[in-house]
Amino acid sequence: MFYETGEDGLGHRTAGLKHSPMNAIVAPRPIGWISTLGRDGVPNLSPFSYFNAVSAHPPMVMFAANGSHSEGGAKDSLQNVRDTGEFVVNICSEELAQQMNDSSTAAPRAIDEFNVAGLTKAPSRIVKAPRVAEAPAHLECRLIKIVELPPSSTGEQNNTVIGHVVAVHIRDDLVVNGRVDTVKMRPVGRLGYFDYVVVSQSFEILRPSWPLKKAGQG
Ligand SMILES: Cc1cc2nc3c(=O)[nH]c(=O)nc-3n(C[C@H](O)[C@H](O)[C@H](O)COP(=O)(O)O)c2cc1C
Repeated sequence: MFYETGEDGLGHRTAGLKHSPMNAIVAPRPIGWISTLGRDGVPNLSPFSYFNAVSAHPPMVMFAANGSHSEGGAKDSLQNVRDTGEFVVNICSEELAQQMNDSSTAAPRAIDEFNVAGLTKAPSRIVKAPRVAEAPAHLECRLIKIVELPPSSTGEQNNTVIGHVVAVHIRDDLVVNGRVDTVKMRPVGRLGYFDYVVVSQSFEILRPSWPLKKAGQG
């Protein structure tokens, strides 16, 4: 199958696909479960699967806010980062998947999604935004920059938020022999459509030396 995405991004339809397969192809995507604090002091919590680490030194992460808030204007997460310059990335483990999804509901601005999803707030150490106490790991972040990307064909805004990770929290039992056991953490990732994946096994491949050694060679 081949198609060009086209000006309106609906080229998949010409290939007979009802839904864009982009999210099923760029998969799995980690989920940045972003908590922020509004200027008015209202906490906000929302998942973003257009999320990733973009640098280790200094540690930097990004998430992309696409489209608008149901009441118009920027999504709360984006607006709160603009206003406060801070956010927290909470990691969603398998047992929190339903609550993570619940926190994505199009709630009015004044609503605190921690309460909607039945989650507990834990204070952060460096930034003011609270953390999801139930989450196995958290990254406290300070805003580096917001990159405005081209809007959708219907004028919906697209912005990518890049933050400096200034502090890291990891549940103690997940640190085994000085390494974080990601399989034990069981983070949830996003696939296409309404599909998710859980990290449940891993394998190791060491970086190659030069020249490459083929299997079976000294
Ligand atoms: C698993 C998952 C991943 C999502 N990823 C994104 C994303 O990458 N970008 C985005 O704009 N919205 C994404 N959403 C939708 C937002 O979570 C939703 O619009 C949320 O209500 C934003 O709320 P806010 O206005 O409180 O920031 C995702 C939803 C779910 C359930």
